[in-house]
Amino acid sequence: METSKYFPSVETLDEGYQKTFKNCDELLPTLPQTKGWWFGQLFQYHGFWISGFCIRGSMLNHDHFKPRSTDIVVATSPKCGTTWLRALVFSIINRASFDFSDHPLRKANPQDLVPFFEKIIHKDGSTSFVDGIPSPRLLSTHLPYSLFPTRMTDDTSACRFVYISRDPKDVFVSKWHFASKLRPKELPPLSLEETFDLFCKGVSHYGPFWDHVLGYWKASVESPKKVLFLKYEDVKKEPLGCVRKVAEFLGVPFTPEEENKEIVEQIVKLCSFESMSNQDVNKLDKRYQQRPVSNSDFFRKGEVGDWVNHLSPQMAEKLDQITEEKLQDTGFNFH
Ligand code: A3P
Repeated sequence: METSKYFPSVETLDEGYQKTFKNCDELLPTLPQTKGWWFGQLFQYHGFWISGFCIRGSMLNHDHFKPRSTDIVVATSPKCGTTWLRALVFSIINRASFDFSDHPLRKANPQDLVPFFEKIIHKDGSTSFVDGIPSPRLLSTHLPYSLFPTRMTDDTSACRFVYISRDPKDVFVSKWHFASKLRPKELPPLSLEETFDLFCKGVSHYGPFWDHVLGYWKASVESPKKVLFLKYEDVKKEPLGCVRKVAEFLGVPFTPEEENKEIVEQIVKLCSFESMSNQDVNKLDKRYQQRPVSNSDFFRKGEVGDWVNHLSPQMAEKLDQITEEKLQDTGFNFH
């Protein structure tokens, strides 16, 4: 599979890393597989549909990653607001270091400021790159909570997770648009109906969506100091309160002086959809740095309830029904 492309010199790595790569190469062909919505294969790994590349990242994490107490992991299921949360957390923890008029978020997409964990862990073929990032490390992941090793999830002092969820109807619509845009032109267009069926069956990147959400939800209930659980809709409605909540959770609450200077308001404004989608760097509509995705692909409407323009009442009802069943007795709902 992808080995030679990403790891041209595996044989030069330590034996421990080589063993992880070998284990992964042996495991992947044995897993159930399906085609991704836009490209590549997805493998069913511990109950979740994940690319081979990211499974390898997860295995590297399991076998070799050394968490630090200051690590912050921004966790999301795709299309729930990763870009937004990356920007918010980055600007909260770095608020003393940058001027808002000349902020890194005006020059770089959040994905370049908050590395994607299951990908960055591959850089240099071992965890040496991620080990070299100075503290506090801010990382982003789509991996389900259950795929993190217990040394990260059990130990309350090991690291913290900030998670954002979103109404699955909006998630599906956002995902379908994203996948349709990225899908190679040679392939037939992605049918909304067929993709909807796949989503309902849990077959989507990092799906089943509900299991992903519930993993983090349960962890946030059991370990509120370790996992902060947010909803996209709440952040939209009360961004100032949510930003304060995140800062408090991360142990860096806003001081009265910062409140007087309206730092919270400035963070919310800088990270708003209007501001971010209008930065030149986020208007880039070309594939760059060999990435299949361009910055502009992460900004579409940024609204709550856009599903109403795409789903039939029957589709919406079906998705609501699945959601109700999945969330039964969990203490969580999307309202
Ligand atoms: P829509 O497709 O519904 O517009 P992710 O970052 O996880 O890939 O999610 C992308 C979704 O978040 C898209 O939703 C995108 O428009 C929206 N989004 C991106 N930046 C945002 C921001 N600053 N505020 C609110 N929503 C944002």
